[in-house]
Amino acid sequence: MSPHRIPVDPAVLAPSPGATHRIHLSAAGVSVVLDVTDGRLPAIAHWGAALGALGPEGLDAVCEAAVEPVANNAVDVPVRIGIIPQQSDGWIGRPGLSGSRPDGSGWAPRLHTRTLALNELPVTAAHVETGAGTLRCDLADEQLGLAVALEVELLASGLLRMRAALTNTGETPYALDELTVTVPVPSDADELLDFAGRWAKERTPQRRAFTVGTHLRENRRGRTGPDAAHVLHAGRPGFGFRHGEVWGVHTAFSGNHRHLAEQTNTGARLLGGGELLLPGELRLAPGQQYRGPWLYASYGEGLDAVAARFHRHLRSRPHHVSTRRPVTLNVWEAVYFDHDLARLTDLADRAAALGVERFVLDDGWFGSRRDDTSGLGDWVVSDDVWPDGLGPLIDHVTDLGMEFGLWFEPEMVNEDSDVARAHPEWIMAPSPDRMPLPSRNQQVLNLSIPAAFEHVLGQMNAVLETYDIGYLKWDHNRDLLEAATRSSGHAAVHEQTLATYRLMDALKQAHPGLEIESCSSGGARVDLEVLERTDRVWVSDCIDPLERQQMNRWTSQLIPLELMGSHIASGRSHTTGRLHTLGFRAASALFGHLGIEWDLARASEAELAELREWITLFTQHRELLFTGDLVRADRGETSLWLHGVVSEHADEALFTLAAVTRSGESHQERLRFPGLDAEALYRIRPLQIGERPSGLGAPAWLRRAADADGLLVPGAVLVRSGLAAPLLDPEQALLFSLRREGERTR
Ligand code: DGJ
Repeated sequence: MSPHRIPVDPAVLAPSPGATHRIHLSAAGVSVVLDVTDGRLPAIAHWGAALGALGPEGLDAVCEAAVEPVANNAVDVPVRIGIIPQQSDGWIGRPGLSGSRPDGSGWAPRLHTRTLALNELPVTAAHVETGAGTLRCDLADEQLGLAVALEVELLASGLLRMRAALTNTGETPYALDELTVTVPVPSDADELLDFAGRWAKERTPQRRAFTVGTHLRENRRGRTGPDAAHVLHAGRPGFGFRHGEVWGVHTAFSGNHRHLAEQTNTGARLLGGGELLLPGELRLAPGQQYRGPWLYASYGEGLDAVAARFHRHLRSRPHHVSTRRPVTLNVWEAVYFDHDLARLTDLADRAAALGVERFVLDDGWFGSRRDDTSGLGDWVVSDDVWPDGLGPLIDHVTDLGMEFGLWFEPEMVNEDSDVARAHPEWIMAPSPDRMPLPSRNQQVLNLSIPAAFEHVLGQMNAVLETYDIGYLKWDHNRDLLEAATRSSGHAAVHEQTLATYRLMDALKQAHPGLEIESCSSGGARVDLEVLERTDRVWVSDCIDPLERQQMNRWTSQLIPLELMGSHIASGRSHTTGRLHTLGFRAASALFGHLGIEWDLARASEAELAELREWITLFTQHRELLFTGDLVRADRGETSLWLHGVVSEHADEALFTLAAVTRSGESHQERLRFPGLDAEALYRIRPLQIGERPSGLGAPAWLRRAADADGLLVPGAVLVRSGLAAPLLDPEQALLFSLRREGERTR
């Protein structure tokens, strides 16, 4: 992605404080218009649908149209809300920058714009229009000794991202409480959608009206959280996957953070986000800088369009994973802590015979870790269970042609571990004589202490240097409560989060090609900053396919399918106790990075044969799944969920129809397949592996398609009028492949 560069006339390069600049960035159907009137703090006059070329008059018109009238009993000039909202602009809501000096001053900044640079070239022209690009705004309040470097970047995908860095240019320390960046949304974006959840039930959607006040989603877990807001959307009432304008934001940070939607009594509406700083956590010495996380902002007609911008951006990164995502077997639900070479080599044999390409050894291989009460933090292969080291298993796995992956939980310790005994001062705690409540029998190791960081890095490097390991499953199984540097009592979640990023970066640098999975008690660390250094997320510890229908559906609101670990587990779910057919488990897992998490020694020959077919189907379709656009049909309150992936030019598609509950109505429903080309002619084929879904009542078109080699159907029928929905028992699924076979003759 190379941002479009605008030609700048060197004759107009002199910075002019107090000057007015109006800048229009536009890419992939999105426009962002920034207004820097009279050198004030940049305000977004428009973020939404593309406006086309505006010219100077048009740009002035957009900016002037965004100016509200002066209200009675308010400040005497129109209120203009900057990207970092401040009282000095008349904003009476939550300030974007909040902090103070020891004498109590410094809390009410008046930031103004000193210089602007677009794609690294100074902006001096009053009106600038360009495509995707990066605007760097140098802001300051000289009197208060504060300087802010604000970056506003419109990416080629049409995704907007912004972040701010504060430098203390004064002579006394500056205690920073909050630095939040915001985007405006229109006053008729009346409905909010974001996410909640808990362990094994991540990313449950919640909707509410956007009303006066602040919908504040604060996270104090020290990790992204199973209940993270994930993407906080505002949209036209009733917006769905395919309709209704929607504006969504995501705070890309894996420590404490916030998302907010705020409306004041003037009707102004903002979405915003930033890091949540604990008391005293950031005390900037003179000259010191703090940089906040990226706030990503995605706009589109419907939630699919919002998701697509995130997906396109992630896929455009040079380090994004290849589409040949290896089919993975993770041993956790197969053996738990029962590590036994014979059992695991047998599991590897069975996996390889099915076409599995990566074998991951989970928790329990190190120190005294025979259960979750001890040994965590001692990253040395256990002599008890692995007397000959991991070599025999790894050699066996790699001889079978599979890659080997290994589990770590680098930020954590059991108190009953060698490392915790040797260095109790490395445990995060509010004081030397107070310990946070244990959670899963564990505490947090303070990676912001250089010696602790080096210790963990050294132990992990030693394992990675000894063995042929291509993949780490990086776990994180507790919230950070009272997480301070034990000797001083200073809150240290911010430093811990940055140290974790550094540790990941150091390992990736030392071991080129190493992939890392972000896992946190399942899916409690899913955000775009951890994904800058990890290669997939574990969506949830709950592999029950019915639950995964929902969790995968909403996890993919932010990340594309190739980054979502999606496994086929045993028939009875270990987290819910529900029983499901292999067909439903596999059809649900297929729309993600496929894996297996099942003791294959307990699977029947028939199940293994069927599993082999599913794996083949996945490998045949992974190119499509991991390059195509995710589409989710709006089907109201129906029991039948339809989603799929459509290739770039709508030549090919794979859909799944899942019955997530028992229908309360007789079946007069039609299936409309989103994302296809209404002008094309498609061959639709039902794909059936294993037994026929129970309760299947096939309509005539489906019987004909199954009897012959598919059925030719005009795209307009598929997209607009729809096909009669089959009858299906609950928790059953059907798959359809579609291929363009020409254009409609008119
Ligand atoms: C939590 C993870 O989500 C599981 O997949 C597994 O790795 C366990 N931790 C191991 O302790």
